[in-house]
Amino acid sequence: MTKGLFITFEGMDGSGKTTQMHRLGARLRGLGRTVLETVEPGGPPIAMKIRRILLDAANQELSPSAELLLYFASRAQNVDEWIAPALDRGEIVLADRFTDSSLVYQGCGRGLGAEAVAALERIACRGLKPDLTLLVDIDAETSLARARARNTAEPHCETRMDEQSLEFHRKVHAAYHALAAREPERVKVVDGRAGIDAIERQVWSIVSAYV
Ligand code: TYD
Repeated sequence: MTKGLFITFEGMDGSGKTTQMHRLGARLRGLGRTVLETVEPGGPPIAMKIRRILLDAANQELSPSAELLLYFASRAQNVDEWIAPALDRGEIVLADRFTDSSLVYQGCGRGLGAEAVAALERIACRGLKPDLTLLVDIDAETSLARARARNTAEPHCETRMDEQSLEFHRKVHAAYHALAAREPERVKVVDGRAGIDAIERQVWSIVSAYV
């Protein structure tokens, strides 16, 4: 058991979870808490190198199994180098995506199955699960529209996952909802269409019970 608190943000691309995570981090620091913010794929420098392979739009041939293994390679590095030590020090860790993303995008979206994800989780995370997961919920159509608008505004931003079809995003969305239904104690859904300040209030009404 760790001493800290591990909170993850999940949601479709363009759901606004990254903004919410930064706002929560700032609020918790304002209350005097020590907070580590991390993003997946990514985190420490080695994991950021793996992130560049995963999100490079030139890597269209990346096979689904290689992709899954790389996400977990990045996660293993992040857990060992950053997340577990911070939790052992009693800090609050906020992660922009974690294993649930692999479950919904690779396990369900790519059809690799929940068992493959669970097997890799045992190796990479060794039982480390979030204490709380905030699922910022938007539908597949909104997600794709926001991702495309972002790609037009910033043509050089990372796009490989954004280029998936509407059908893929619908599968991911359904998988997130199935997860929230299966684990209602851990996974709390907030309405991603509510506006940034309103979502922040929803997030805080949930998180304040944990800190
Ligand atoms: P990112 O640019 O961080 O997207 P966003 O800010 O919208 O979350 O890219 C992360 C992409 O990686 C996103 O499309 C989801 C995907 N992903 C997976 O498919 N599996 C995973 O395990 C993780 C962590 C991310």
